Amino acid sequence: MTNANLTIDEMATFCKRKGFITKTGEIYGGFAGFWDYLFLGSELKSNLKKSWWDFHVRHRADVEGIDGAIITHPEVWKASGHVDNFSDVFVTCKKCKKPGKVDKNELGKVNCNCGGEYDVQTAKDFELMFKTNIGEDGFGYLRPETAQMIFTNFKAVFEGARMKLPCGIAQIGKSFRNEIAPRNFLFRCREFEQMEMEYFIKPGQKCPHEIPDIEVLVYSEKDQKTNEGPKKMSLKEAHKNKIIKKDWHAYWLGQGLLWFQSLGAKLDNFRIRQHYKEELAHYSTDTWDIEYNFPFGWKELQGIADREDYDLKQHEKFSKENLKVFDEETKEKFLPHVVCEPSFGVERALLVFLYEAYSVGEKGKIILKLNPKLAPIKAAIFPIVKKPEFENIAEEIFKKLKKKFNVIYDKSGSVGRRYARNDEIGTPFCITIDDETLNNKTVTIRDRNTTEQKRVKIEALRYILEDLIDGEIKFEDL
Ligand code: GAP
Repeated sequence: MTNANLTIDEMATFCKRKGFITKTGEIYGGFAGFWDYLFLGSELKSNLKKSWWDFHVRHRADVEGIDGAIITHPEVWKASGHVDNFSDVFVTCKKCKKPGKVDKNELGKVNCNCGGEYDVQTAKDFELMFKTNIGEDGFGYLRPETAQMIFTNFKAVFEGARMKLPCGIAQIGKSFRNEIAPRNFLFRCREFEQMEMEYFIKPGQKCPHEIPDIEVLVYSEKDQKTNEGPKKMSLKEAHKNKIIKKDWHAYWLGQGLLWFQSLGAKLDNFRIRQHYKEELAHYSTDTWDIEYNFPFGWKELQGIADREDYDLKQHEKFSKENLKVFDEETKEKFLPHVVCEPSFGVERALLVFLYEAYSVGEKGKIILKLNPKLAPIKAAIFPIVKKPEFENIAEEIFKKLKKKFNVIYDKSGSVGRRYARNDEIGTPFCITIDDETLNNKTVTIRDRNTTEQKRVKIEALRYILEDLIDGEIKFEDL
């Protein structure tokens, strides 16, 4: 069994062919940077977001969630600095003539993907936020990040939920950026989703949590500037040796990696990279990214910025509202600091899981080894042959399981074909109703990754499936 080295265009073709994702307005030729999630893609995406939310919000006592508006008050973006700073430099390539984007500090230093030089004469500032009309003569912005809704609602949530520092507020939702050159399938889109958290502390407050014991490639600013490669080390070591300066940064980088690991990703393809000074966003004093080794190179999956009190200070200044909190111990009022802002793109995480799962087995058969929690369809139910005595039981099981899981009923083609169809879309379990079922009310359950089969009682199926999906039991222990 080999992991296939699939180009990003081949991955896009696979996703379209199997009913995961397609260009929006495909029948009209598509619309660059916008994608539609189909019957499998929408389930996969919603499972991914649920898993992130469970891991980062539900299972923690110190984090609350919100769901803010998408079309947002213009003043928010003046205060945040996006109106003045959130732009790229638009340039055209001398060779392929295609538009490209560069960061301000990269002008004249980087080339187009085709190898051609960018024409500096064509350079112009390009505002990344989408504006939209409101009513007769008003306007608003489609939010370019979810983070600002967390800042503007900070005090209401902090006080309403009676939170204590250190604590976090999280949000999952759509963001929009008028990217000059959307590319690499889902990697750079104009409409995408973010899973973000702002983690607030008292200035200087130490991290009470243990830094996860994870080894990963660490690429510090110094190693990038001196052209030394990234070095493999544990996050604890990186913090102890002052490569990652703040304990909080090491801790939240670890949480991001642990989440990927909890869904079956191998950390060999991950690294953490520090932003160099010139690259830092206008609000950040230190940023580390989690990057993944895609077929088109190492790319950012998650940025974790130290935003200090930049945003709350700005919103206090622009709104004239008091956003300070009261410290019971010192009896002082102060603005909490955002020591870390773990900010993930849903689409990029989804691409990682597709790459980690895609494998090619015997005779070139594709097997999508998605973690059962992520898999769009949890089980397929088959009568072994098309005869009423098998079909009736299969339909009965399907109806019962459907109330709890996204399962399908499939009776067309040979059982081998049905297995192969389901392996390709990542269905972790196939349940077959056969001769023995008629005698003793048992069915076979087949594991996608090993093709091993076990016989279980129909009455226990629902619980077994639940435990297998949640990882509470292993297939081999059945
Ligand atoms: N609130 C901080 C923030 O938005 P960012 O680095 O601009 O920081 C965070 O974005 C994450 O959002 C990125 O690491 C990436 O995963 C995702 N993201 C940003 N722009 C994207 C785009 N055009 N398409 C897909 N994902 C994007």
